[in-house]
Amino acid sequence: MKTLNTIEEVRAWRGAQAEVGFVPTMGALHEGHASLIRRSAADNPATLVSVFVNPTQFGPNEDLAKYPRTLDADLKLCEAAGATAVFTPDKSMMYPPGFRSWVIVDELGDRLCGSSRPGHFKGVTTVVAKLFNIAQATRAYFGQKDAQQALILRRMVSDLNLPLELVVCPTVREADGLALSSRNRYLNEDERKRAVGLHKALAEVERLFKAGTTKTAILHPALVTILDDYVDKLDYAEIVDADSLQPLDEVDRPTLVAIAAFVGSTRLIDNTIIGV
Ligand code: PAF
Repeated sequence: MKTLNTIEEVRAWRGAQAEVGFVPTMGALHEGHASLIRRSAADNPATLVSVFVNPTQFGPNEDLAKYPRTLDADLKLCEAAGATAVFTPDKSMMYPPGFRSWVIVDELGDRLCGSSRPGHFKGVTTVVAKLFNIAQATRAYFGQKDAQQALILRRMVSDLNLPLELVVCPTVREADGLALSSRNRYLNEDERKRAVGLHKALAEVERLFKAGTTKTAILHPALVTILDDYVDKLDYAEIVDADSLQPLDEVDRPTLVAIAAFVGSTRLIDNTIIGV
């Protein structure tokens, strides 16, 4: 596996490949990232992983400074999962002095996580568009855990005619159902036990829906009641159209049930799709 430190090195490496799968990450890699890399390695003759903690997607009071940086372990995980090369740009390379250009996906970026983290998706779409231009990949891999991110990036790829296929892979979970996340390592023992509440709340909505309940006026309180028993502060719990992210009264189409909640001071997200 090669480590590529500059954009020029990535371009030179890319030129020698036929098809490339690309897995953009912010490091602090876990089994969820490994599953994306393995999927890419199965689909493509070469897989590039990027490790870059993107400052523009963090708000002023968020965890950019303390975001875990574990490059040595990340490189080992990438190699074991089948990556061919890892790109580790620094901030000055991605945002040189004078940087002024942004990619914004209207409306979709203002709801759910976008309403509590203003500017977050502008940072995500901009860095991902830049990374796509640098990597020139054939396919790019993202996790369903970040459902809104995946939806927005799909929109961006389509709207801007970016020449690559976006592949969204299933959320990887701990044995008790907690979705894997780089932020899970912030949780203490008690918080870790309570973090499973997000999954339990989603599972209850899935159960009710399977049993025939389609009214969100019934599903939503069930979601929130369970969350109240586990989390310290709810950021949002919403039942929305899976394409437009607009609230629904009735689950009569693909529907995203999405949660963001604080357990201790750690903000966790999770989601499920019902009505498919
Ligand atoms: O999902 C992430 O880890 C990040 O949002 C991404 C896509 C790597 C952009 O920084």
